[in-house]
Amino acid sequence: MAEAIASKLSNYEVVFFPFETKGNFTGRIKELDKFENGDYSSIEQDFSILDAEPYDLILIGMPAYGSQPPKTFSTATERMNNLSGKRVALFGTSRFRRGSHVQFMKEHIEANGGEVIEQKNFRGLLMLGTKKALEFGTLINSL
Ligand SMILES: Cc1cc2nc3c(=O)[nH]c(=O)nc-3n(C[C@H](O)[C@H](O)[C@H](O)COP(=O)(O)O)c2cc1C
Repeated sequence: MAEAIASKLSNYEVVFFPFETKGNFTGRIKELDKFENGDYSSIEQDFSILDAEPYDLILIGMPAYGSQPPKTFSTATERMNNLSGKRVALFGTSRFRRGSHVQFMKEHIEANGGEVIEQKNFRGLLMLGTKKALEFGTLINSL
């Protein structure tokens, strides 16, 4: 979804910072469990280089885990340098939820000094098409 949105950001030079789990399905679930329990050892280096300072806009996307995004979100934004005063656009993905986790993200970003200029949730029970993400990208590109 991030790549679909970014494909429409012709007014921006885009840099990605994906937090990726690697390996087979079981290994990835174990990795996610570690993140939820506060063990970020495999992505510690990614956290250490998070700095909003050079960017005009920070776009953050997260899945719904219950009514919240994964804990990685809060940890990443708390550790991000220079978030204060930055423009932020948020998106979420979910199977059922209508975006309560994106609202959680908005409140968290604002509590850490960021200015949320747009937010959107993409919901798909079995599959997420990119149509709405492309539309969201076009909107963000015009801001
Ligand atoms: C631990 C866990 C909890 C989840 N909880 C919810 C939920 O409460 N509501 C919901 O709509 N989707 C929930 N999902 C589905 C994810 O939001 C969905 O998998 C994600 O948005 C799409 O990413 P994927 O295609 O990589 O799975 C959950 C997924 C996981 C792994």
